Amino acid sequence: MIIAIDGPSAAGKGTLARKLAAALDLAYLDTGTIYRAAAAKMLDAGADPGRDAEAAGQAARALVLAELSRPGLREENISQAASQIATIPSVRAALLDLQRDFASRPPEGKKGAVLDGRDIGTVVCPQADIKIFVTASPEARAARRHKELLDRGEASIYARVVQDMEARDARDSTRGAAPMKPAPGAFVLDTSALDADAAFAAAMKIVAAHRPSSPARKP
Ligand code: DC
Repeated sequence: MIIAIDGPSAAGKGTLARKLAAALDLAYLDTGTIYRAAAAKMLDAGADPGRDAEAAGQAARALVLAELSRPGLREENISQAASQIATIPSVRAALLDLQRDFASRPPEGKKGAVLDGRDIGTVVCPQADIKIFVTASPEARAARRHKELLDRGEASIYARVVQDMEARDARDSTRGAAPMKPAPGAFVLDTSALDADAAFAAAMKIVAAHRPSSPARKP
């Protein structure tokens, strides 16, 4: 079973995807980490993620899975750089096989996978059994991100968080290559008024009603 979770940052898709994977005994891949690791590699090399498409493509092609666990990938400069290189078609093409391989041959003998990102239901796994587009109001998302940063002991200014989020949302949803949008047939889950447990319960209902073996599923 493949479950595709897409949506903007701080909508709760990572937490939800991780909980679904654990509950259903599926493998989990946070595809944003792949873009982040490629962006970090590029910054290490001193290249400009906003200008140097050639270096971005090279960093993406040379990426190995071990690099996904390097520390610091969630920092804001990496978030913006990842969003910048994610607009480059050669970067997306280089990272596509890695994601599809994971979905078709999940590690540790798992019988399926949950992938989260921006284009899982539209491009990476358009045949996914279940697609969920997780969203929330900009205010709810900004408040969550602000709290997350403060909880991690980082300095955070709310207005700056809103500004960074808007910049990334705009870039991720208006780019020509695989823009973020709900896939056809995706269930839209608005988590503005839901905590992580309530969002998980809502998603499990969707899964129960639509998983491949479910009698409720149309032939
Ligand atoms: O999910 P995230 O915030 O870690 O993703 C970082 C950036 O990577 C995001 O702003 C856009 C890009 N991304 C993408 O274009 N496609 C994906 N499937 C996942 C992430």
